Amino acid sequence: MSPGLGNLDPSLRHAWHPLCRSSDVSDVPRSFRLLGEDYVAYRLDNGDVRVFRDRCPHRFAPLSLGSCEGAALRCAYHGWVFDEDGACVEIPALGAGATLPSRARLDGPAGVAESHAMVFISPEPARTPLPSIASALDPQFERGDLPEMLTRASAGLLADNFLDMAHFPFVHAGTFGAGEAREVPSYSVTRDGYTFSATYEHEFANREDPGVTQGIRPLLQRRRLTYRYTAPFHLELAIEFLDAGGTNVIGFFLTPVDDDAVRIYSSIWRNDLGGSRERMREAIDFEVAVVEEDLRLQSRFDVLELPLDLTEEVHTRADKTTLELRRILADFVAHVREAQALE
Ligand code: FES
Ligand SMILES: [Fe+2]
Repeated sequence: MSPGLGNLDPSLRHAWHPLCRSSDVSDVPRSFRLLGEDYVAYRLDNGDVRVFRDRCPHRFAPLSLGSCEGAALRCAYHGWVFDEDGACVEIPALGAGATLPSRARLDGPAGVAESHAMVFISPEPARTPLPSIASALDPQFERGDLPEMLTRASAGLLADNFLDMAHFPFVHAGTFGAGEAREVPSYSVTRDGYTFSATYEHEFANREDPGVTQGIRPLLQRRRLTYRYTAPFHLELAIEFLDAGGTNVIGFFLTPVDDDAVRIYSSIWRNDLGGSRERMREAIDFEVAVVEEDLRLQSRFDVLELPLDLTEEVHTRADKTTLELRRILADFVAHVREAQALE
């Protein structure tokens, strides 16, 4: 068997990953783990976020134990101070006016970006785009955040699970899957670089529509599902209710933490809740229940790698999205390796 994509594959250093939510970052430094390394994140007075490896260059103390002093960060151990670019500007033990070692500077990721109320980083220059969810920018949509989840899993296999349509009646029988058709309708996938989208429409029993009980609409209604994927592990599903109206968008952003651990940041965007906090709370609780159904299975997998050699597994025409996931990630890994071989 050829190796698949594990959570700590070196190629993943060349892509954007969610480090934390924007609301997790303040003027109190905090540590977040990603790709087997700890990063410290804090916010400057002007609102900018700074991210560095959570390791002081002096004696490797975690900088997240330190404190912010304006735009600077002071290490908790010997009090070295680093400016907002990571350069050491003070070593208390040397007194004022001392010459400071040039190697006394912090390592930062190549890219830091805030988007969709999350902080993304790319440890090395990113070869993939940042994910972009159109509904997130539409003022008609309200955002609700699921609690962050940490699970034993492979990020590749969790992405695979999100894009998979054939498991609904089996894994999600306790939530939305009970009335779902077992047969996956035919659909096509459109790839664009390291992203793809797939759309299909089908009929479903809309048991939540009050218009059905009022006799305004039939129980069987049309629904359009659009999956959008951005490598390596950014996923979106937009569900449009074509008869009853309204759109539910689910965003699913995965952080490979360690070889066997993944953090999940998921948010929903809804344009049909009329500002009701109660209804948003119910919608979030429902999504949490759906993800828990998935994780009960995903956290038990022996294999913690997504196979990238398409001959290893058996695929069917119902698996087009998850095949495209493998193709894109295989191309991405190959491109990063080729570029490194040329360096
Ligand atoms: S370990 Fe940070 S100042 Fe010494
Ligand atoms: Fe699922």
